[in-house]
Amino acid sequence: MDQLKNKVVYITGGSKGIGFGVAEKLIAAGMRVAISGRTLKTVEIAANYLDSTDRVLALASDVTHLQDEKNAVQKILDKWGQLDVVIANAGVGHFAPIDELSSTQWNDMITTNLNGVFHTLKASVEPLKKSKGYYITLASLAGANFFAKGAGYNATKFGVVGFTQAAMLDLRKYDIKVSTIMPGSVATHFNNNEPSEKDAWKIQPEDIGELVLDLLKMHPRTLPSKIEVRPSRPDLKPK
Ligand SMILES: NC(=O)c1ccc[n+]([C@@H]2O[C@H](COP(=O)([O-])OP(=O)(O)OC[C@H]3O[C@@H](n4cnc5c(N)ncnc54)[C@H](OP(=O)(O)O)[C@@H]3O)[C@@H](O)[C@H]2O)c1
Repeated sequence: MDQLKNKVVYITGGSKGIGFGVAEKLIAAGMRVAISGRTLKTVEIAANYLDSTDRVLALASDVTHLQDEKNAVQKILDKWGQLDVVIANAGVGHFAPIDELSSTQWNDMITTNLNGVFHTLKASVEPLKKSKGYYITLASLAGANFFAKGAGYNATKFGVVGFTQAAMLDLRKYDIKVSTIMPGSVATHFNNNEPSEKDAWKIQPEDIGELVLDLLKMHPRTLPSKIEVRPSRPDLKPK
């Protein structure tokens, strides 16, 4: 774990769900972690819950705005002077037949899931060049498999997979690693879910944290660039 100690991480959308679970694991590994969300108060509550020391930074940033992301990265550099790992995790989902999906829902997904990962990368790529760091996106199995009522979400997650893989080709010459994680169902607040016992069959957020740790510990010469991860027993889903 020593190679990760004190490394600086930025996780977008760390106020709950996958981002929060990943933050828990990375802090336990000795890393310093900035988490963000749209409302400072919410992120501060999450940050206090994660750690009461100086190893966590709460940031308000809406990934749909490039300037918010630039400000967030600047605050991280002001506090810790470096940025080693960026996890572009913030995302939303709206699910409806395409003739019923509203343009507001469409735009919310495009601006958050797709513009967001671009904004986060643009804001962090220069410090990542300096640190020879790691940029990870949270796509989804919905970025490889389309399904009814998923047209908008599928469009964004197929886009995130393509974006991340092409960015990987552009950035590896700077020794920046780039990967996309494509989970199936994870027990989070996504799509207005309230995590409970009924979600026991799903991947848990901390499992994605373990996966991120595995990626960060991987030998520099080796890059798992696209990782599909799924519940091993979907048949245990309550009927
Ligand atoms: N849960 C699943 O089954 C699943 C499966 C595959 C992929 N994913 C992907 O995993 C990622 C995380 O989702 P989750 O399941 O953890 O959902 P979640 O529990 O709803 O958490 C979403 C996080 O994103 C943040 N967020 C939303 N819009 C934002 C914006 N415009 N700017 C900044 N932060 C924003 C939220 O923060 P605030 O609300 O505080 O702003 C929250 O921290 C998403 O990209 C999602 O598509 C989820």
